[in-house]
Amino acid sequence: MRYTTAGKILVVDDEPLNVEVFSRLMLRLGYEVLTASNGELALESVAAGHPDLILLDVNMPSGGIDGFEVCRRLKSDPKTRLIPIVLITGLTAMEDRIKGIEAGADDFLAKPPVIAELEARVRSLTRLKRYTDELDSAESVILSLGLTIEARDPYTQGHCQRLAKYATALGTRLGLDDDQLVALHRGGFLHDVGKVAIPDAVLLKPGRLTPAEYVLMQQHTVIGFNLCKELRSLDDVRPIVRHHHERPDGTGYPDQLKGEAIPLLARILSVVDVYDALTTKRPYKPAMTSPQALETLREEARKGWRFESLVEEFISLATEEGFGGPTPVDASITPPLQLWRK
Ligand SMILES: [Fe+2]
Repeated sequence: MRYTTAGKILVVDDEPLNVEVFSRLMLRLGYEVLTASNGELALESVAAGHPDLILLDVNMPSGGIDGFEVCRRLKSDPKTRLIPIVLITGLTAMEDRIKGIEAGADDFLAKPPVIAELEARVRSLTRLKRYTDELDSAESVILSLGLTIEARDPYTQGHCQRLAKYATALGTRLGLDDDQLVALHRGGFLHDVGKVAIPDAVLLKPGRLTPAEYVLMQQHTVIGFNLCKELRSLDDVRPIVRHHHERPDGTGYPDQLKGEAIPLLARILSVVDVYDALTTKRPYKPAMTSPQALETLREEARKGWRFESLVEEFISLATEEGFGGPTPVDASITPPLQLWRK
């Protein structure tokens, strides 16, 4: 990540004199400066130059799209929505301010701006952007860790991707909202992140675990939960990491939660996790066929280990979609680190 300057500012204005004045001010403050003279050029400059903040003129009567529309487009694109945008406007009417807020602007400055105010806002918003970038990279590290754990165990190859796919498909079927679906996708990769602390001798043991080893293995839920604790962007994922081995009858781990006390996303991931484990070959057991695994899920629901309604939904889904177990891995699945940028 580059921070050789205080940051990179894009100045957008159709008036060359304004561009000149803002650019000089920003350069004086130690920022690198990009400029654009209309809305279309501004969007191109964002895509090519990745600015840390945009000073955006609202009225650009020379044609094309205005500042509100530029703002709206950037804020609706996951790749650019975290770039702070300050609308610079001669407009003081309340309705224009409301329009700016609706377009997703982070701040406003009246034209001509008070220099001290402009400097203070730019500094504070670029600082905020830097924190966001750092958070983003911390999250990427955790997500990569999920894939690293999978890589330690050749028998689980593709497990994370399949789980992300199955869980989001089931979540979509249940009518969950976008945030919940993103959490399920992330949960597919992160649910077992705590296994990073489980020794190879236990994690990769080619036979059944002893009771002591099983207790140690169970700790992966709590360890993973603690690993994700500091990341607010993983707020919705943390319950999945901690509770994906709970059972409706209270015989699961680590907290022996019962029934509805188990978070919904954890219940969903638990069903697809078991399905994938059953349809995967292990050193000590062959892979079940998809129909055998689905029937086993049904039996486990009868025992009180799974939620019956979720199992039945998953059976309908798997039957309709033709889920067939671990091979081949679906190559069309979006690479996680791109999809997860919110
Ligand atoms: Fe697990």
